[in-house]
Amino acid sequence: MEYDKTNRTFDCEPTLNDTQVLEFCKNGFLILEGVVQDDINQRTCDYLDGKIPAQPSYIPEGLTHEDLERIRNSHEPSTIFLEDWFVEHVVLNPQVAGVVRSLLGRNVGLPVLMSLHRAECPGPAQGWHHDADHVFGPEVRFIQAFYYPQDTPLEMGPTEIVPGSHIRPTHREAGEKGLSTSAPAGSFVIHFFQILHRRGEATGEGVRHMLKYNYWRTVPPQRDWIVEPGFNFHTADYGSHGIARYIAHMFYWLCGKADEFRIIGGQAWPYSGSSMNQIGKTYGFGEPEGFIPNWRHNNADNYSTPS
Ligand SMILES: [Fe+2]
Repeated sequence: MEYDKTNRTFDCEPTLNDTQVLEFCKNGFLILEGVVQDDINQRTCDYLDGKIPAQPSYIPEGLTHEDLERIRNSHEPSTIFLEDWFVEHVVLNPQVAGVVRSLLGRNVGLPVLMSLHRAECPGPAQGWHHDADHVFGPEVRFIQAFYYPQDTPLEMGPTEIVPGSHIRPTHREAGEKGLSTSAPAGSFVIHFFQILHRRGEATGEGVRHMLKYNYWRTVPPQRDWIVEPGFNFHTADYGSHGIARYIAHMFYWLCGKADEFRIIGGQAWPYSGSSMNQIGKTYGFGEPEGFIPNWRHNNADNYSTPS
């Protein structure tokens, strides 16, 4: 782990391979259960509840002690990023860092804003939403993390998400369930910012803390995660009709090959839903001309002509 305290970046070995990066592109999230140790989880809750004194490792330029106190007591207690123990054991947690490094490349930019979701339980489910200012596209310029510093079983209303809902606006009625991310203390949900989610219904008693923040890309994308020798871009499973084009585009963008990405539509690559039943290789792979997916979804077939 190389932590550059001055520039607020880190670098480490990536931990995801080609298949896992592509799976992340398809699902839009992954869960790391119980990766932060108990005393740090407890210390985090104590910090958020004002039970321990702040020990900022430095005062950011332009801010005063009074500013830090105000920030700590707000719904965005970003001063927790000034606590060395939190940076070391949560933000730079080796398992989290390996995943984030795989998706964002070298010299990952550290978070600057923390959101605290403190929910009094019991409580109703929140409405389904994509977080404000989300953008749909193949670019992966930041990744969002939910950190659960306390046990968050179903009764405590863990965040519900809709797998695969990060590629287009998705509507879901309040009565429809999603995938619950119930998890033990010290768990993370690493996900695309734009994924559809909500706070789940809580039937238990007490206060649930959930912390949300972003990691940032500082370098152009390239395929510098764990390369699998046998990984085949032609035969990889990018998903079914209407979806594969977006997933493949995103994967190519992450590989630094978005400029080469062209598709011709129909049964051609990257659609693979029927590949199990084909008697030959899918057409349309590596076509120098063709279309790109229309991420704005504002025409009839959702293909765009590259500019
Ligand atoms: Fe949200």
